[in-house]
Amino acid sequence: MNDIFRTRLLEEAAGMKDVPRGEGICTKECPSNIAIVKYWGKYGEQKPRNPSLSLTLNNALTATSIHWETGKNIRPSVRFTFAGKESPVFAERIGKYLATLQPYLPFLSKSSLHINSVNTFPHSSGIASSASAFGSIALLLGEIADELYGKTGEEHFLRRASFFARLGSGSAARSIYRGMVLWGESSRYPGSSDEFAVPVQEVHQDFSDIRDSILIIDSSRKKVSSSVGHALMEDHPYALTRFGEADKNLGQLLEILKTGDWESFISLMEHEALSLHAMMMTARPGYLLMKGGTLSVLEEVQRFRKETGLPVGFTLDAGANVHLLYPPAVAIEIKKLTDSVLKAFCENGEVIEG
Ligand code: DP6
Repeated sequence: MNDIFRTRLLEEAAGMKDVPRGEGICTKECPSNIAIVKYWGKYGEQKPRNPSLSLTLNNALTATSIHWETGKNIRPSVRFTFAGKESPVFAERIGKYLATLQPYLPFLSKSSLHINSVNTFPHSSGIASSASAFGSIALLLGEIADELYGKTGEEHFLRRASFFARLGSGSAARSIYRGMVLWGESSRYPGSSDEFAVPVQEVHQDFSDIRDSILIIDSSRKKVSSSVGHALMEDHPYALTRFGEADKNLGQLLEILKTGDWESFISLMEHEALSLHAMMMTARPGYLLMKGGTLSVLEEVQRFRKETGLPVGFTLDAGANVHLLYPPAVAIEIKKLTDSVLKAFCENGEVIEG
């Protein structure tokens, strides 16, 4: 509820009123993430209605570079390209985003920026890339601020990047850290905040190298965006129960992460994924983002687990694609399952190793 960190950043900004002359090109990579406990519903300035916990991916990255120029005589301008091509839709979103950051980074009003992003995963794949895109931009803006006004310590640098990333896309706040990352204030995790994400400290060795295979069921643009989905939680009949359940699930997940219990991890992860989609189906108006292929994959995964006893479970983000999470020890068996059964439900047989 409180805005302690925001206040601190505004105080820092007061010391950045003079904009020195500067120019440079910098590049940063930032991974995407997949939530185990889902953020669904927000309020105020991009604050979550419930805490969430995600796994940062290894291979699904956005690399962004910014060519910047600052100085008191510079006319502010922003150009955004995606893999070198003009992208007016995203440019507009970035323009609005930079305007929200201006109070914290006053040099933005005296800067000319050319931002270029590239994804390491296929752009058409339907994998939400806003987390990695905003994460990488937030990191870069922090780097430019450091170059103009002097370095901040690593802890503050990352926390500030997480705060900035959140203002672009809520889930992006978590992409700043590796491993298991928590965003949203909860009495179950001291130090947690609605303002920025924090890395989860106590994670059992057996969860240190989780694999994520992403089954691309449908790569087309989804018919209901996440922003509309978040907004539909405002007068959702089950909203309050959901927010409470998410917090309870977070408490359970934190315990599971300490003990390394894969069975409980899978059970909780699948429950969260289905709860998220239940919220979509029971909204007014209700909607479905899962496709027939999604349901077939979920059933096949549960059948395979029952038959083999192997630790593999699914989760979903706000779309039709399925993430399979499992430990590296069963990677060969999961590849066999994917190749022989699951790929048939994927668009062009596409599977991405996240
Ligand atoms: C289902 O972070 O994409 O993936 O804050 O409006 O940009 P905005 O929403 P976004 O929502 C992500 C929702 C989710 C769950 C999650 O990542 O926690």
